[in-house]
Amino acid sequence: MIYHIPWLHTPVRTVLAIWHQLTKSEIPELAKGSVLMRERRRVEETIHAMKQAGAGSLQVISDFDMTLTRFSHDGKRVPTTHNILENRLLMNEDSTKKMRDLLNTYYPIEIDASRSIEEKLPLMVEWWTKVHELLIQQRIRKDMLAQAVKVSGTMLRDDCRLLFDRLAEQQVPLLIFSAGVGDVLEEVIQQNHVFHSNVHIISNYMDFDHTGVLQAFKGQLIHTYNKREGAVHAAGLRALQGRPNVLLLGDSLGDLTMADGVSQPHNILTIGFLNDQVEERKESYVNAFDIVLVKDETMDIPNAILSHITSSRKKQ
Ligand code: C5P
Ligand code: MG
Repeated sequence: MIYHIPWLHTPVRTVLAIWHQLTKSEIPELAKGSVLMRERRRVEETIHAMKQAGAGSLQVISDFDMTLTRFSHDGKRVPTTHNILENRLLMNEDSTKKMRDLLNTYYPIEIDASRSIEEKLPLMVEWWTKVHELLIQQRIRKDMLAQAVKVSGTMLRDDCRLLFDRLAEQQVPLLIFSAGVGDVLEEVIQQNHVFHSNVHIISNYMDFDHTGVLQAFKGQLIHTYNKREGAVHAAGLRALQGRPNVLLLGDSLGDLTMADGVSQPHNILTIGFLNDQVEERKESYVNAFDIVLVKDETMDIPNAILSHITSSRKKQ
């Protein structure tokens, strides 16, 4: 329709045509009320360039807790991988209470829009360190993790399985980069039948002794705001080589550094789930992510974008 407005000069017509294509027909989901974009045009151009390059040039880098999993369900918070461990199968009552108290102290700091990341850094290290010490004291048993996940009420975001399956089908690597607990994360995706061979995970992994009792955590601690360091390490993964286009999914401003290790990126499109403290954080999220999804518990937008990028190219 837009093509037939004779008095519009060409650049305006072109922009309108792209906009029309993306919002009205090809990716109608972008018109949802929960979608915020600082620069709609940049989003459109990036998606267009990614589609031109095709699935073979793409990698997806995603956070786990509250990004691939839901934030809440039926008005109740969905547990994170750490929360799943707060279970009497694994810990005594006193320790589960201590974990809760630590969450109530530090989570508000993690999401506090009035504090800088620099200010939060030492406090996040403090939180993770205290929790990991507590878990080690509790002598967590490896063979009880599956049952703890089963009864936890953890939930992937709606239609998240579609995302995993499509990426596997298209042989697009999915790097899950989580400050949660890797062993628990693996169990969650295993129980959802989506731990496909294209999935790579960087997280805090437990180190069990020969009897299957937790004795330490492996490697360098990953918390919400030091993902850049792990990102550089992850970039060495062979599966990610030669894939300069990145779709990045996260729920924290710290997640934006997850693509920092990608060498010579061509196009990076960032999608941020704004789950909590919406009014306080909206401005900073819109300034930082290309697309912000406000209180959206579904994978509709990433799925729609992916389906567009990986569908066969039209002849130019
Ligand atoms: O996968 P992701 O990087 O999101 O995992 C980290 C999340 O886990 C943080 O956003 C934090 O709120 C949560 N967390 C928790 N309990 C802890 C430590 C972190 O629920 N003890
Ligand atoms: Mg998260």
